[in-house]
Amino acid sequence: MIKVNDKLLQKKIDAFYACGQGHVFRFWGDLNREQRDTLLSQIKQVDLELMERLYDDWRKREQKGTSLPNLEPAEIITLDQRLKRDAEARAIGEQALSAGKLAAFLVAGGQGSRLGFDGPKGAFRITPVKQKTLFQLHAEKIKALSLSYKTVIPWYIMTSQANHRQTVRFFEQQDYFGLEKANVVFFSQEMLPAMDKHGKLLLADKNRLFMSPNGHGGSIKALWDSGALADMKRRNIAYLFYFQVDNALTRICDPAFIGYHILHESEMSGKVVRKRFPEEKMGVICKINGKTGLVEYSDLDEKNMRAKESDGSLRFWAGSIATHVINVDFLWRENEQGFRLPYHFAEKAIPYVDEKGNPVKPEDKNGLKFETFVFDALQDVRSTVTVEVEREEEFSALKNKEGLNSPKTVVEDLLRLYARWLRSAGVDIPVNKTGLPAYNIEISPLFALEAEDVRKKRRQIPQPHKNMYLE
Ligand code: UTP
Repeated sequence: MIKVNDKLLQKKIDAFYACGQGHVFRFWGDLNREQRDTLLSQIKQVDLELMERLYDDWRKREQKGTSLPNLEPAEIITLDQRLKRDAEARAIGEQALSAGKLAAFLVAGGQGSRLGFDGPKGAFRITPVKQKTLFQLHAEKIKALSLSYKTVIPWYIMTSQANHRQTVRFFEQQDYFGLEKANVVFFSQEMLPAMDKHGKLLLADKNRLFMSPNGHGGSIKALWDSGALADMKRRNIAYLFYFQVDNALTRICDPAFIGYHILHESEMSGKVVRKRFPEEKMGVICKINGKTGLVEYSDLDEKNMRAKESDGSLRFWAGSIATHVINVDFLWRENEQGFRLPYHFAEKAIPYVDEKGNPVKPEDKNGLKFETFVFDALQDVRSTVTVEVEREEEFSALKNKEGLNSPKTVVEDLLRLYARWLRSAGVDIPVNKTGLPAYNIEISPLFALEAEDVRKKRRQIPQPHKNMYLE
């Protein structure tokens, strides 16, 4: 058993041994001081009771399986219905924006493993002409909104311990993209260790547990723990606009969406698009045992995934684009009595070091990761509203290196969006059958946030040309 001077820390170490996790100190004798400190700083963070509970839950589920919930389509404000109602909703949303009731909330704590980019995903360059990063694109939208509504929209950004320093440094280097530093607030989410299938914590290295961020649901806890929620209350913020770092088309603080949220006295609202095909990997918003919520694509059984309505359309069509408006008061309530979102398990092939200290890269799924999902908070709301949006206008996510949802598809979606906006303003720009313009163009969010802005500025637009950039 290892001994340290700090009494509290010693207690924690003793608890590791008592819980059968003493193997994490197996290489203590080989470690220098700095390496020991790294291990101990991780040890301090681990909630052993929680990890035991999560492992037990996983085992029970393995033995018993899970029963399928009863799913029905949810009530959704469709694009058709919006035609009549948008003007009212938009006016209400604009009022809330002008009154300074909104904050933007970006979750950027993910590991971006599928993209395989060295750095925070937000630092990935994505725009067609200026090669702006995702962070810059989001920042310029926030800046444009603040100018247009003559207000401050504070921006809260959740990172993880794995990318926090790099993210903050990136913003500093870019001078916060012209935003007021005091209105950009960073905080980190928690990390959770991974286990093998016998409930033993896995070591990524001789002096390091394998740890990963606790899922985007961890944002609800991190907002509270970091003091961000209290900061929002001080600033009189009532609504959070929640979005993900990888959606280049995200319409930050969309006034109509905010308006629907307020009109329906919703506590947490969501945006959906029509799934393109049944197997598309999108969570579906539907009624789960009578209550509106979200079923992850991996949890949607084959029968429901393919179910059709009598007119032949997909029954569960409403794919979530992970964009929400959430009440600050609701988030407060979610935390007041302790974090309550359920944990999900994922069996993964997790690299580790074996008893001899040799690194192992398993082919098969050898371990368990645990995550929480923000949409599970829908189960706790008193009311919610779901709004359909046009995919081409609002959703194109950067997930993969190649193929679907890759840099190529995102750039093309941006190009199509800019070309559509220009053409709707009567600008003559040739496009191919898929709507792609004949040449590279880019419209800064500071020039236009939507087609209507382009129409209003028609006179300022020159004859379209290669690498045209409008700002
Ligand atoms: P994804 O689930 O797509 O994960 O995150 P990812 O980390 O970006 O990519 P992969 O799966 O490793 O390839 C969707 C959004 O949720 C955030 C991400 O940063 C992204 O904005 N997220 C995800 C967090 O903030 N924390 C997490 O623990 C997980």
